Amino acid sequence: MKFDFAIVIIAVSMLGIGLERCDCKMVQFIFGDSLSDVGNNIYLSKSLAQASLPWYGIDMGNGLPNGRFSNGRTVADIIGDNMGLPRPPAFLDPSLTEDVILENGVNYASGGGGILNETGSFFIQRFSLYKQIELFEGTQELIRSKIGKVEAEKFFQEARYVVALGSNDFINNYLMPLYSDSWTYNDETFMDYLVGTLQDQLKVLHGLGARQLMVFGLGPMGCIPLQRVLSTSGNCQEKTNKLALNFNKASSKVVNDLGKQLPNSSYRFGDAYDVVNNVISNPSKYGFENADSPCCSFGRIRPALTCIPASKLCKDRSKYVFWDEYHPSDKANEMIATELIKKFGFKRVDQTQSSSPSPELAPSPTSDD
Ligand SMILES: *[C@@H]1O[C@H](CO)[C@@H](O)[C@H](O)[C@H]1NC(C)=O
Ligand SMILES: *[C@@H]1O[C@H](CO)[C@@H](O)[C@H](O)[C@H]1NC(C)=O
Repeated sequence: MKFDFAIVIIAVSMLGIGLERCDCKMVQFIFGDSLSDVGNNIYLSKSLAQASLPWYGIDMGNGLPNGRFSNGRTVADIIGDNMGLPRPPAFLDPSLTEDVILENGVNYASGGGGILNETGSFFIQRFSLYKQIELFEGTQELIRSKIGKVEAEKFFQEARYVVALGSNDFINNYLMPLYSDSWTYNDETFMDYLVGTLQDQLKVLHGLGARQLMVFGLGPMGCIPLQRVLSTSGNCQEKTNKLALNFNKASSKVVNDLGKQLPNSSYRFGDAYDVVNNVISNPSKYGFENADSPCCSFGRIRPALTCIPASKLCKDRSKYVFWDEYHPSDKANEMIATELIKKFGFKRVDQTQSSSPSPELAPSPTSDD
């Protein structure tokens, strides 16, 4: 009798595990800035951070502007494609419905946005990371009313999360005398404030169900054409690069510590600095001819805020690392994504078996990133 009882318990618990499986697809929720924006700012009509005019998007789809701050794809597009994950549409895309969200996820990234609320205020409209998280809460509400609380919780716990912001907190905040943060803080206190804010935000995301999350660090932002043209020598601004390195160091510690503390979480830090730096330092090795000026520029007038219809394009867009003053070209993004896929071992996800935690996002205590 006792024996039978045990069998019943085993059978019930096996059934229980079976019922825990979510029938939904694995999708991504992306939080970011212009490097990941796929069209939110187009719908923020007052925003000055826009990729809504030619020649943005010239090498993608029908060649018309689609909101990406590049001539083609973003790094997140390329990594997602490689992993077999659908490309999440922009949150403000009018065609976004519950069904679209369940199939594709959502991208909240917004050009000019930062970790800090005050970052990029010069652009008038943009979604800061807190705002993006607030919008994500709204998305959760919507999905809960569509598929119920239990299924929704599984859906959001199985999804992949990408957080990639921070360069605007320097370029369009701390390093600009226009912003009060630039005279309120010094390098050290600003870093504490910035990374502390990121830590709080990552905890909020965990509270909302994010379990498999990757935070991307900053590239050598002192080497973007805008920073070079502002330096007298035309070289990279080492002070700016140092801030990026310090940010990466501090935020990788925060992310790794949270990964250990937060229950059931697989939080990883993706340090892309070396990958991008290699492309910028050895352009010819990667097939590029130019790594210091934008492909799209307005004659000799530099820096320009964005690429505009009156700008001239370089002859071969695949030979330029940078598309405009801030953003890499499609080709550079492809190189960067390919290197990141190698470095972090991103694998294709199996959409037929969505509920088991996937090995490629498992925390690796020995990782040097
Ligand atoms: C940041 O903005 C969010 C809304 O997007 C708001 O809820 C929060 O209080 C703000 N935080 C600070 C420190 O101003
Ligand atoms: C962690 O996972 C276990 C087993 O799946 C579950 O019972 C528990 O509620 C989870 N905890 C959190 C905070 O998600």
